[in-house]
Amino acid sequence: MKKVHAIFEDGDHKWLALARDTSRPEFLIDTNEYLVTSDGDAILLDPGGSEIFPAVFSAVSTGFDPRRINKIFASHQDPDVISSLSMWLEFNSGIKCLSWLWQSFVPHFAGQAETFVPIPDNGMEIAVGSRRLQAVPAHYLHSSGNFHLYDPKAKILFTGDVGAALLPAGDGGLYVEDFDRHIRHADAFHRRWMGSEKARNDWCARVSALDIDMLCPQHGAIYRGADVRRFIDWFSRIEVGILKP
Ligand SMILES: [Fe+2]
Ligand SMILES: [Fe+2]
Repeated sequence: MKKVHAIFEDGDHKWLALARDTSRPEFLIDTNEYLVTSDGDAILLDPGGSEIFPAVFSAVSTGFDPRRINKIFASHQDPDVISSLSMWLEFNSGIKCLSWLWQSFVPHFAGQAETFVPIPDNGMEIAVGSRRLQAVPAHYLHSSGNFHLYDPKAKILFTGDVGAALLPAGDGGLYVEDFDRHIRHADAFHRRWMGSEKARNDWCARVSALDIDMLCPQHGAIYRGADVRRFIDWFSRIEVGILKP
């Protein structure tokens, strides 16, 4: 079962993290989904694969009416990000899916022309109730068309696969507690999946200008406080975009 954790709460403006499905099969990479709500409106970030839809849906439905979800944000096109789209659309055919040019690729999973809202290369503002979230360009990290999502009020940056860590079974904490120990589980993932040092440098400069309390990846634990800066510094130094034997 996935558990729901409120990681930010200010009235109806909330960030809920759906994390750590201990009952999933081992061969399936674990994912985090995030739900952002404000004033009766809700957006689900990287809702996950079709295989885990029942776990995500039942976790979301714990104390929350899933009919309020009218937008899905897909950081990129991967199956662990958005292959559950057909099931979400079966539940509510009016849901809009926001992503980059994958609006012509993602329909291979599901959807009609009006389902998809393309995000331009430079990003855009996404309204959720009275809040204004910002789609932040993260192209080539790792997908060639890739976005993160920043909430300036909550000071939370959702970073998709950036910051991801493949944690060993039993390491189920929601937050990073020991950065040096944690980052060992992120190292091989970033070296393999992040495609460009130039893109990495651009991203580090871009997000360093943001005021971030929490950096929330799609896999592994959430970075808080000083660990956000530690992660950006670590990421800025490692070698990416090359496969070494
Ligand atoms: Fe991915
Ligand atoms: Fe992923």
